[in-house]
Amino acid sequence: MKVLHIDSSIMGDASVSRQLSQAIVAQLKEKHADAQVDYLDLAQQPIAHLTAEILMGKDAEQAALGEQIIQQYLDADVVVVGAAMYNFGLSSALKAWIDRISVAGKTFKYTENGPVGLAGGKKAYIASSRGGVYGENSPVDFQEGMLKTVFGFTGVNDVEIIRAEGVNMGAELKDKAMADAMTKIQAI
Ligand SMILES: Cc1cc2nc3c(=O)[nH]c(=O)nc-3n(C[C@H](O)[C@H](O)[C@H](O)COP(=O)(O)O)c2cc1C
Repeated sequence: MKVLHIDSSIMGDASVSRQLSQAIVAQLKEKHADAQVDYLDLAQQPIAHLTAEILMGKDAEQAALGEQIIQQYLDADVVVVGAAMYNFGLSSALKAWIDRISVAGKTFKYTENGPVGLAGGKKAYIASSRGGVYGENSPVDFQEGMLKTVFGFTGVNDVEIIRAEGVNMGAELKDKAMADAMTKIQAI
């Protein structure tokens, strides 16, 4: 089983989403002895933001990198993404990855009946962390919704969210949020 583990928080060891994504991957490894993990740390090794040059395939090095990360996404049986909420959305590093894997003809295609995802047959776990409390489907939550939409657009509809929220609202709330998230992870 191929696992693609992605982190994107800028906070290193202090990061909540990193702690959660790491625990999810550890759990997957425990349950699946054959798990092989590819790891992307988008904060430490950022992927270049999309430019016209990259989009038009005029930069050979970036074109090769683009092919590689698309293939890595297509090959994965499970994707685990650590996603911090920054300004109601995703980190720019994670958005840069999304912009590079959302490629027509590779991860989706347009048909007469609308877009069709080409990266299906995998499961995605979103390790979501946010300072405030939003719950499900908040109109100001552009973090989880965007990830679910992008995964769905590429054909990945089996998306499970492991969320710790309210983590900047005091130690008590944070501890409870982390404990609840860890309980969910243990049930994977
Ligand atoms: C630049 C920045 C922007 C943030 N924006 C929000 C926000 O819009 N809403 C919110 O609830 N928390 C916000 N937070 C708090 C983070 O979501 C929270 O600290 C979370 O734990 C971040 O994930 P991490 O610990 O994995 O870095 C922000 C934090 C930073 C550093």
